[in-house]
Amino acid sequence: MVEDSAIIILGASGDLAQRKLMPALRTLYEQNQISGECLIVGSGRTPFSDDEFRDRFKLPPECTVRLFYHQHIAGLKKFLDGKGQFRQIIIFFSLPPGTYLDSAIAVHNEGFRENVRLIIEKPFGRDHSSARELNRKLEELFGEESIFRIDHYLAKEVVQNILVFRFANNLFYPVWNSRHIESIQINALEEIGVVERGRYFDEVGIVKDMVQNHLLQLLLLLTMEAPITLKPEDIRTQKINLLKSLQFEECATGQYSGYRRESGIPPDSTTETFAELRATINNFRWTGMPIHIRVGKALHRSGTEIGVRFHPVPKLLFNETGQLKPNQIIFKVQPEAGILLDLSSKKPGSDMLITETSMEFCYRKSFDGEIPEAYQKLLLDALKGDHTLFVSAEETELAWNKIESLRLPDQPFSYEPGSRPPAVLPVSWIEFDKYISACADVGRGF
Ligand code: BG6
Repeated sequence: MVEDSAIIILGASGDLAQRKLMPALRTLYEQNQISGECLIVGSGRTPFSDDEFRDRFKLPPECTVRLFYHQHIAGLKKFLDGKGQFRQIIIFFSLPPGTYLDSAIAVHNEGFRENVRLIIEKPFGRDHSSARELNRKLEELFGEESIFRIDHYLAKEVVQNILVFRFANNLFYPVWNSRHIESIQINALEEIGVVERGRYFDEVGIVKDMVQNHLLQLLLLLTMEAPITLKPEDIRTQKINLLKSLQFEECATGQYSGYRRESGIPPDSTTETFAELRATINNFRWTGMPIHIRVGKALHRSGTEIGVRFHPVPKLLFNETGQLKPNQIIFKVQPEAGILLDLSSKKPGSDMLITETSMEFCYRKSFDGEIPEAYQKLLLDALKGDHTLFVSAEETELAWNKIESLRLPDQPFSYEPGSRPPAVLPVSWIEFDKYISACADVGRGF
C-alpha cells in the first residue's frame, strides 16, 4: 500500500481530473492500494473552497477529509507543509500543454525539489525542438528520474500483453519477422469528432494527436527486439533502437465534413481528422514488411485493433489456387479486450472443405474481475516510482523526428462523418469490422 504521499493535481478543475484522475484515485483508495492517510490537493485557476471541491468528487469519506483545494501554484508548498511531512510528492500536470514549461518552473520556484515526481500528460511538446527544450529544462530542474511522461495506451491491458504474447510463447517468437509476417496493421477509429477540444485539436491534427505517441508506442511493442530484462531502461533501449530504424513512407489525410463548423475551428482549417500511413522498419527482422496505420475521428464506430497478417502458405495442396485466407492475429485493444487467431480448418463432413475459423482469447471469459482503468495503473506506478509504462525523453524526441519527417498532403480530402474509413493508399486492409462482435458478449467476469 502506498503511504506517506501527497498527490497534487494541477488543473484539478479540468476535464481530465474529473473524468479520469479522480475516479482512478477513488478506485485505488477503495482497493486499499493507497492509504487513507495520503493527501490529495487540487490546484487550478477556478476558485473553490475545500468543500466545493470535495463535492465534485465522490471519494470515500475517510479520504474526503484528506482532499483539499489550493488555487494557483503560488503558495502551494507552504500550504502542503502546513498539512504534514510527506515521503514523496506526486505532481500531476493536467494542464494545457503550452503551460508545462512555465508551470514546471513555478513548481520548482515554490521549493518542490526533493522527493518530487512530475507526471506529465501528452502531448509532450508541439514538435521536436519544443519537446527537446522541455526535456532539457525538466531534467535540469528535477532530473529525468523524477519525470513520468504518460502515454495512457501503454497501460491498456492488451497493450501490456503484447510483449508477453511475443516473448512468453514459443509459438509466436520464431515467426515474428518479415519472412513470416506479410504486414502489421493498426486501426484506431473513433466515432466522436473533436467535440469540445476543437482549439487544441486544430493545432495538432490526428497524426500528432494519436500517431506520434499512442500508435507509435503500439508499434514499438509489436516490433522491438526482446529487452534483456524487464527493467525500464532495458525496454527503453530496445524501443529507441527500433525507432531509429523506423521510417514513414507515405501518408494520406482526410477531414470530416462539418469539422470546420465545430467550435474553435477556423472556417478554412486544413487540419486532418483522419490519416492513413505506411511505414517500414529497416532492420534485419523487418526489412521489406509494410506497416499500415489508419486513424481517425467521426467514423462509423469506435475501436482499436492491431492485425498481424502472415504470408499465405505455398500454392500447393489445400491452396493450389491461392484461395486460402492467410493466418492473422488480431489484438482487440478496445472496446472489448481480446486476442484472436484466424486459422484454416476442415469443415466437418465427408468432403474436404476448408473454412476459416478463429481461436478467441477474451479477457472477460478468461479472467475474473475488472480490467483496471489505465490511469489507475499509471498513478500507482508513478507513486511506486516504476518507470516501465512511461515514455523517456529520448523516445519522445525521436518520435517527433519521425513524425516531422513525414510530409502531410496540403489539402485533406473530405469524408462524411459516421462513414467507414475511406481507403486511400493502395492497402489490402484486414477486415477489422469482422471482429466487432468477438469478445463482446462473453458472460463471465464483470
Ligand atoms: C487522446 C487524444 O490522447 O487519446 C484524443 O488526445 C483521443 O484525441 C484519445 O480521443 C483516445 O483515447 P482512448 O483511450 O479513448 O482510445
